[in-house]
Amino acid sequence: MNIGGVLDARLDNDRRLPLLDSYVDEIAEAGFDTVRLPVCWSAHAGEQAPFTIAPTFFDRVDAAVEQVLSRGLDLVLDVHHYEQLQRDPAAHADRFLALWQQIAERYRDRDTERIAFELLNEPREQLTADRWNDLLRLGLAEVRATSPDRTVLIGPARLNAVDALGDLRWPDDENLVVTVHYYEPFAFTHQAAPWLDDAHRWLGTPWGTPEDRVVLRRDLATAAQWAGARGVPLFVGEFGTYAAADRDSRVRWTTAVRTELERLGVGWCYWDFATDFGVFDPAGGTWHEPLRAALLGGTSR
Ligand code: BGC
Repeated sequence: MNIGGVLDARLDNDRRLPLLDSYVDEIAEAGFDTVRLPVCWSAHAGEQAPFTIAPTFFDRVDAAVEQVLSRGLDLVLDVHHYEQLQRDPAAHADRFLALWQQIAERYRDRDTERIAFELLNEPREQLTADRWNDLLRLGLAEVRATSPDRTVLIGPARLNAVDALGDLRWPDDENLVVTVHYYEPFAFTHQAAPWLDDAHRWLGTPWGTPEDRVVLRRDLATAAQWAGARGVPLFVGEFGTYAAADRDSRVRWTTAVRTELERLGVGWCYWDFATDFGVFDPAGGTWHEPLRAALLGGTSR
């Protein structure tokens, strides 16, 4: 389960959710086994070398890490919303590497089996496949300086899209997982998403024809084959639907993605717990059914 809206806020007033102990309890008790925690480190680090991460922010991340691990959940910690890096990779590469140097150092002895690092959420824009292929090697080296064995997740450019895997140059390293995000068809999953120009025109896009299902299975098989050919585990780190899509289509799509990934033996994290794609209503303290059941199987509660 992705816990969005907590530590990925680009600005403090963009923080949408407190990380209550009861939320982490809900996630663990529902039967999820892994939390992906998106973290916007770049909003809390110096702009000049040595690009120090604010101690108060590190304390907040420590507290969240503790909350997740203490429930027996595994954790994926990423670098999220580093938008200046996407727009100007040359100007921000050193800062990106300095972030990883500090993060890896901070957690160097902490649960090496249960905390995985993900180098960067959704490289895009000026961070083209070529530039990302170079930068990810430097990022991995920074992590490996203090975490020789920890699992590291790396996804392709173009927003971790499945069809960008072909341009991903895979590093030679024993403890890597390849990660992709699945939001296809985009006009269905992102209908009426307010941060996208014109997404309101997609409102009413349904999902669930036999042709839709063929495309979905083909896309996921493409990712699984890429990973299988390299002997690398695949992880779908985000998939989900914006709340404006009709409920039945959301449930059909979510069930189809989840069951197909499980058939393929692929791990996943849903986007997300309780923001605008959420499966949990933080105000009422209840799960959205039957979306929860679509993720975990069984019948709605
Ligand atoms: C972003 C969210 C967004 C989601 C779906 C995530 O990576 O952090 O802000 O809602 O993708 O587009």
